[in-house]
Amino acid sequence: MKLLTCVSAFGLLLAANAALAADPNLGRNLAATCANCHGTNGKSLPGSGIDSLAGVPKANTLQKLADYRSGARTATIMHQIVKGYSDEQLDLIATYFAAQK
Ligand code: HEC
Repeated sequence: MKLLTCVSAFGLLLAANAALAADPNLGRNLAATCANCHGTNGKSLPGSGIDSLAGVPKANTLQKLADYRSGARTATIMHQIVKGYSDEQLDLIATYFAAQK
């Protein structure tokens, strides 16, 4: 009985993993964590003094994020924020923002 519970729990985990990998909204969901400062869908509010991320080519965004992470680009906050994401997650986020008009 215990083994059965264990096996089915593992099966559920596998299913959850597969669902995560295939989630077509993952980029959008991750990008939503930037919305507090950079605006909904990366469109910052005029006059906020924060750069929009929407429509910026993916390579540009990824380069800026890499520079924040390495310290090559100085920042008040982004150097810390960027450390909270994996390269794969940043790739998804930059892809999502690049596709916004
Ligand atoms: C707490 C507010 C805040 C959050 C959340 C935030 N940012 Fe930023 N972001 C800033 C600020 C402020 C700057 C200007 C650099 C600095 O002082 O850190 C900036 C600058 C940037 C820049 C450079 C823009 C340019 O054109 O020079 C990029 C790219 C960027 N952020 C991406 C992101 C991404 C991607 C996320 C989400 C994972 C994110 N930011 C979340 C506040 C934030």
